[in-house]
Amino acid sequence: MEPKKAKNSGAFLALALTLVMALAWVSPARAQEGVIKLLQPDFTQGKTVLQALKDRKSDRVYGSGDLSLRQLSEVLWAAAGANRPLEGDKMGRTAPSGHNDQAVDTYAFTKTGVYKYDHLKHELNLVLAGDKRQAAGLQSYVATAPLNLILVADLSKITADTGDDLQEKINIANTDVGHMSENVYLYSASAGLNVICRNNIEPEALSKLLNLPEHYLPILGVTVGLPK
Ligand SMILES: Cc1cc2nc3c(=O)[nH]c(=O)nc-3n(C[C@H](O)[C@H](O)[C@H](O)COP(=O)(O)O)c2cc1C
Repeated sequence: MEPKKAKNSGAFLALALTLVMALAWVSPARAQEGVIKLLQPDFTQGKTVLQALKDRKSDRVYGSGDLSLRQLSEVLWAAAGANRPLEGDKMGRTAPSGHNDQAVDTYAFTKTGVYKYDHLKHELNLVLAGDKRQAAGLQSYVATAPLNLILVADLSKITADTGDDLQEKINIANTDVGHMSENVYLYSASAGLNVICRNNIEPEALSKLLNLPEHYLPILGVTVGLPK
């Protein structure tokens, strides 16, 4: 009997060691303080673009469940991800931008905090800890849906033939965020998620919350969640 026991405890020890080693390998990357490392998109899943266009719609009712890390990752990548290298140090993006100025930052408001998306590292970096979803819009579902993106233009980055014409810069920024938002709509339709874009936000309050300099303009909210 004894040798069998010893054999079992040896196997248990090996299993425990493997688990500890696996966790030690995973945790620095995944759980570094304030950083959510996002997953690369799974290009084998989802509907065709035509089917996603057919299913695209806005939703104002959301289920209470959280998005999976995969869904969160793919929403961010659809909105603002890098999809190809370009000449120089810029990456091409999933959404076009005027003059390729790439002037729009993406903030993610979740249950755990407000994060800024880094498209080069494909990760979310904590800006404010705690649940600030209420501040992401004026409609009731905003405070409870698992994810609200706030798209913020850095008007100082918009150089495309605008000179000092502020209205022209804002026109370009509005068009940029429209493309980003539509990407999220199509991804959401493809992945079976609910979504809505909203200009019903409070830009001044958001600028204050996010401590943004004057030339940054919060333009659009995009809420994403599970169907109810
Ligand atoms: C620029 C823009 C801003 C919008 N803002 C809001 C908003 O603040 N609140 C809201 O409930 N819906 C908002 N919507 C969603 C529209 O009401 C919705 O797209 C429209 O009714 C058509 O419905 P559909 O998207 O389901 O086809 C917005 C849509 C766009 C394009």
